[in-house]
Amino acid sequence: MITKTLESALNLQINKELFSSYLYLSMAYWFDGIGLKGASAWLKTQSEEEREHAMKLVEHLADRGGTVEFSAIEKPKNSWKDPMDAFQEVLKHEQFITKSIHDLYAVAAQENDLPAQIMLQWFVSEQVEEERNAADIISNMTRIQNHETAVLQLDHQMGKRARS
Ligand code: FEO
Repeated sequence: MITKTLESALNLQINKELFSSYLYLSMAYWFDGIGLKGASAWLKTQSEEEREHAMKLVEHLADRGGTVEFSAIEKPKNSWKDPMDAFQEVLKHEQFITKSIHDLYAVAAQENDLPAQIMLQWFVSEQVEEERNAADIISNMTRIQNHETAVLQLDHQMGKRARS
């Protein structure tokens, strides 16, 4: 049985993951509006992944006999200064989520809840990838701003070269 302290911490994280999904969906349609369909598709996929993260936590809570309690999801922004501004927000948000996952893990440890700690280890690893993905996109965007568009395009094409 899960403790009330951990139950409420998990419910809070579920809300944060659902907000992440909402934020990235909003961002996806902002990119769609400015004609950048690739970034829009990336963010739609990211939004779906965030919902899956929420569902992992929901299922764990339900499996453990806890009470799933959904709260109102905060309204996300719907416009950004430019693509760099948007992806900087993605990175900042993921850093916030990483801290939140680490805090949640600490609660599970403090409550001596082994199943929750094991389940949360997946999230700890996932956050490393989430931050890395956003940082990589920012790094590529920085190069584009420095007029390295041609280098990136060539790199992309070379990566697609088939074996002859
Ligand atoms: Fe579910 Fe992007 O953290």
